[in-house]
Amino acid sequence: MRMSTQATLASAKRYLDLIGGKPMNESEMHAFILETVNSYEKHVNRGFISYRKSVTEAGQFAALEWTGRNSTITDLLGRQYIDCLGGYGIFSAGINHPRIVKAVTDQMGRMALNSQELLEPWRAAMAKLIADITPGELACSFFINNGTDAIEGAIKLARLYTGRSTFLATIGGFHGKSMGALSLMGKASFREPFRSGLQDVRFAPFGDADSLESEFAKAEAVGTPIAAFVVEPIQGEAGAVVPPSGYLTRARQLCDRYGALLIADEIQTGMGRTGLLWGVDHENVIPDIMCLGKSIGGGVMPLSAFVSTPKIWEVLIPNPVIHSTTFGGNPIACAAGIAAISVTLEEDLPAQAAAKGAMLLEEFANLRARYPAVLAGCRGKGLLLGLEFPSDAVGYDCAAALFRRGVLVAGTYSKARTIRIEPALDIPMQLLKEVLNRLEDSFKEIQGKRFGGTSSGVSSQSVCEQDPLPA
Ligand SMILES: Cc1ncc(COP(=O)(O)O)c(C=O)c1O
Repeated sequence: MRMSTQATLASAKRYLDLIGGKPMNESEMHAFILETVNSYEKHVNRGFISYRKSVTEAGQFAALEWTGRNSTITDLLGRQYIDCLGGYGIFSAGINHPRIVKAVTDQMGRMALNSQELLEPWRAAMAKLIADITPGELACSFFINNGTDAIEGAIKLARLYTGRSTFLATIGGFHGKSMGALSLMGKASFREPFRSGLQDVRFAPFGDADSLESEFAKAEAVGTPIAAFVVEPIQGEAGAVVPPSGYLTRARQLCDRYGALLIADEIQTGMGRTGLLWGVDHENVIPDIMCLGKSIGGGVMPLSAFVSTPKIWEVLIPNPVIHSTTFGGNPIACAAGIAAISVTLEEDLPAQAAAKGAMLLEEFANLRARYPAVLAGCRGKGLLLGLEFPSDAVGYDCAAALFRRGVLVAGTYSKARTIRIEPALDIPMQLLKEVLNRLEDSFKEIQGKRFGGTSSGVSSQSVCEQDPLPA
């Protein structure tokens, strides 16, 4: 309902005062939390109210995101959470890394967005840095603001370059939810309500190179040859699924044999997440197009890109605005990206992910041996890890129990029974040990509740009263 200008201005002023740091007393905080829940119900999507653990598991007052630093998030009431969710993979360098924040605020002070006419130095610099750190001949970048748009651009580039329109994707694959990216979605419940997007998409089981070969051959035989095979080096939303070794190499060979492009979706696996800078580095495979997103913006700005070779890029040269966007490559996002690359290399985040991931996988396996009824499996690489539970319900129990103990995790999008463990790559070992303690505590509780073992008796109150987190 349309309010008077005065009333709207008063609301905006109040929000801006709070953004500006105006303190609230406890009853004001409580009122503001209820107001936020109410606005979610009326103006955002009330489905979230029954869906988010920050509402259902937080006790009397929902948890409102207020401040974050490194691997700890503090809500409005001062309750602390160890972040093992990483904003679905954006916080690889931790939350609000000071060098990344500084780059953004420095640039913000000069100019936040672009004129669209003058040349933008940080877009060019960021593209140059990406060329420096990506494999093979990958050298040209187009910047946008989310992973989905990187996939959209890659689809268009592959069509333009090959003149073909059939795409091959993987069962369980996740590439975003716009009409094009959604067409490559390997999970029907997301894709089918919006049918149809791209007309010609084939799917092969992830990790099965023989099936892939058969799809290439069938498409060729019926005169609809494949433009590109789109694949995550490790499937994220399907539950941190690592393909058998040699899979990506075979995929590369098949693309070459059938004249198709290999599009690596590194939106979640890139920037060190899996223990090497890129997921494709585990097999030294060089894709024709690489899609980047999430952590490339350093966890401070939205930034994504599709990157390809000068030869393929030629099709975009005659009309450089054949694919364009207003905000893509803006100076503050690129400043964040430049700082993110610097931090990733300087702090050797990939090596940190490899070491911590190996430690966690070992500890998860020990937990599995102790709680076989609760934990069905664990897998992943680096710090893209999944805990597999016997059912969606047990998986949710575990995420909820962890939330009550001040640890943020969530099920993966395409497989709710798999909980993702995706912390910052620089998360201190001491915090990970604390996470493991709370995980075991949660398993005890679930064992007691569902399988008749002993329960730890932790109540939903404990999130408010837990000991301060280790530094
Ligand atoms: C592998 C992969 N590709 C694409 C996307 C879509 O990215 P965004 O949500 O930023 O549009 C995601 C998001 O989770 C992803 O994991």
